Parts: sequence; C-alpha cells; structure tokens
Amino acid sequence: MVKIHTLHIEPAVVNASCAWASDYEQLRELYDSPHTGAVVTRTATFNGFSEDSSNTVAFAKETVSSVNSYGYSPHPLSNYLDWVYTLLTTPCLDGSPPVKPVIISITASTPTVLAQMVEDIQSLRKRLRTTYSASLNPSSPIHSNRSSTNASSSQAAWVSTIDPATLVGIELNTSCPNIKDAPPPSYTFPLLLPLLDVLSSAFYADPSLTIGLKLPPYLYTTRFAEAIRFIHTYTRELRPAVFLNGNSHQPTEADGSAIRSLNPFAYLACTNTLGSCLLFAEQAFYDPRDPARGTDASSADMATDDLDAAGPSPSPSPPSPASSTSSTPPPQPPSPSLMPSPFALPPALGGLGGECLHPIALGNVYTFARMLATHPDPAIRRIRVIGIGGVTSHAAAARMRAAGASVVGCATLLGREGVRAFEIIAGHS
Ligand SMILES: Cc1cc2nc3c(=O)[nH]c(=O)nc-3n(C[C@H](O)[C@H](O)[C@H](O)COP(=O)(O)O)c2cc1C
Repeated sequence: MVKIHTLHIEPAVVNASCAWASDYEQLRELYDSPHTGAVVTRTATFNGFSEDSSNTVAFAKETVSSVNSYGYSPHPLSNYLDWVYTLLTTPCLDGSPPVKPVIISITASTPTVLAQMVEDIQSLRKRLRTTYSASLNPSSPIHSNRSSTNASSSQAAWVSTIDPATLVGIELNTSCPNIKDAPPPSYTFPLLLPLLDVLSSAFYADPSLTIGLKLPPYLYTTRFAEAIRFIHTYTRELRPAVFLNGNSHQPTEADGSAIRSLNPFAYLACTNTLGSCLLFAEQAFYDPRDPARGTDASSADMATDDLDAAGPSPSPSPPSPASSTSSTPPPQPPSPSLMPSPFALPPALGGLGGECLHPIALGNVYTFARMLATHPDPAIRRIRVIGIGGVTSHAAAARMRAAGASVVGCATLLGREGVRAFEIIAGHS
C-alpha cells in the first residue's frame, strides 16, 4: 500500500487520466477492478471540451503504443462530481464500503475558472462528509446496496472512522500537447504559476486536500530542476493555525514525528504523452470499440500503403539552365486534409503513449525521483512520483518502480485491453 498524502493506494496501480476514463460506466468498471488502487478521471474542464471527429486515437501495429489527438473530456466537471459522488456512496459489489480513492483530473486556462473548479470539488468533498455523517441513518444513500449482501453494520462502523473527503484528490493536467495554439504550460513553467497559486491557496485553506500535477515528458535536465525550483516556492513552515477549520489532526511523518514544513503538491504524475508525433496510416489501427471507426487505418477509410497515391506530388519542374548547379528540391510532405489521409490521425500530429514512450518516461521518473529525494526541503522530499508511460506489462511496471515511481499508471494498455490491463500489470495474465 502506498500513501500519497490522504490517498491510500492499494495496489499501487492506477489508470492514467485518459479517454477510457470518460464516463460513469468506464469509471465504474475501473473502480470495481480489484487490480486498481485508485481511479483517475479523464481531464475535465468547467464546461466540457467541444470534441469533433479530428479528436481520436490510433494504436501502433508493431508495438503497444498509441497516438492521440484528443483534447479534454467533452463532459463538464459537474458530471464528474456527480459520478464521483455516486462511486463513493455506493457499496462495492461485495457489499463492502467504497474505500478506493478517486482523483479528479482538471484543467483550466485561467486562474478564475480553476478556482471555481477547485471550489466545486471542495463542495463535493463536504457533501460526502455530510452524507457519511448522516449514513448511520439506514435510509441514507450509502446503504443502497448494489448486491444482495447486507453490510450495513460494518459500514456503520466504517463510516464513523473514515473521512470520505480524504478519498478525493485533484490532479492538474498541465501537459496536454493537443490543444491548438495552447502549448502545454508546464513546458514554460512560469506560465503555470497563476494556476499553482490557486491550488496552493486551496491547500493551505484545507490541508486535507491531495493535489498532484500531471507533467509532460521533459527532454533535458534544466527543465526538471526548474519545475522543482518553482514547486519549492510553495513550501511553507507549519503554523498550528493551518490545521484549524475542522482539520484537527497534525500531519506526521512516517516515523511519527510532526511535520514542520508543508508543500501543497503531493505527487507528480510523469509523464503525459509526447506531443508532435506522427504515425502513418499503414502503421496503425483504430480502437476496435470505437463505432465511428473501422478497425485498421491502413485498409479502412484513411488508408494507403502507397504514399504517392495519397496525393498529388509536385510535378517535376522543367530543367532550368541552372539545374545542374541548384540543389535537389525538398520533398513535399502530404497535407492532412488529403482524402484519404495518409496519416493515422486526422491532424497528422498527436501525443505518443505506450511502449515507444517508455524510455523517456522512465528517464523522467528517475530524474524527478532522484531530485526530490535529495532535496534539502523535507516537504519536497515527501512528494511522490506516479510513473506513467509505457506501463504495458508486469516487467514495465517493475522498471517504473525501480526508477523511483511509488505508483504506476497506464492509458495505452487500458485502451488496448480494457480493465484486463490491470491484471496484465499485476502479472496475472
Ligand atoms: C487516448 C488518450 C487520452 C488521454 N487523455 C488524457 C487526459 O484527458 N488527461 C491527461 O492528463 N492525460 C491524458 N492522456 C495521457 C495519459 O494519461 C498518459 O500520460 C500517456 O498516455 C502515457 O501513458 P501510456 O504510455 O500508458 O499511454 C491520454 C492518453 C491517451 C492515449
């Protein structure tokens, strides 16, 4: 079991925020899996992202990898709040109370909107507390069983000992590479600070909030150092007043000693997909469960094996008198608007996940884990890393842990295999 601030994650495996964690049915299935230790929602915006047919995913034929051109979830945050409330107030299939944490992935382009989203999540956490304290009443929603098992007496004992608000975390997605004209802010860390200010204020108003940051793959050392330098600016020395307002317990280190400095950020999720990647149609196939698509990009609507057939090649220019001395004209890459497109994704470029991402994800996890572990500030040393990127097997998950991940997560494998992905990671199939 791994504890990340208030979240107990057992087993230490989660789904990464992704298109297969979009709606209630998908979240329910992830929540019910005995092989997930927490569930992470797809990234929500306040109003929902307007998706179109250019937002999609394709899988590589040769490796367990994906490219996707999705933005954020089409469902607004309010839907996720309702769904998470239902997950955390409905007994599990065996009648036991829900104890698995849910991390709500969010993003916003302005601090004002982010502040509203955080406030709405805080309202959900308060609502859960109210429901749980009322749940000793047998007519409470938490007693409405999904199975025939009547576990209400054990639930009653349980709800009196657990603070349900501690089952809900927030992950700020700072790193989606697919938003037109809006590069991931975490590649220019100072751009993130107005959003981090919002999260930091929410944390210091209520230190029972668990907050993570979803980061992109960084390509060189100074980027990691810069991220930690900025995150460190949010550390504060502990004052007892911080723990008033209903947060009675003083946080302690694993050895029982009192925590003296706090940082709002409990974990870094490394990494998001690597942007600007390209697969040709003949290298890819589509999500077999996506009814809008064929199954094979190279033989279906977008396919061609012959790039020349995909579009007009520039006709060779007539030789000019100077042609013997001029350089060879550059190749003309095809346009994504050609029909049929030669590319696996409609915009051509997208974010790369899966096996192809694994070495850079391992490198990011390793670098952050080392830098965090050797930092002079104990609050920074407490920040955990969730290792994401090419976790497609039991061995890959073990490599992530060896590189410094406390918890591992996957998206591409989930897209390929459904929730069976977590059995694969556990080594059961
Ligand atoms: C189809 C798809 C959709 C994704 N959507 C999100 C998202 O909404 N929010 C987010 O933080 N990451 C998103 N990701 C990135 C994943 O969380 C993950 O960081 C990345 O895919 C690397 O993990 P993998 O190698 O297991 O795929 C998405 C990835 C895929 C493949």
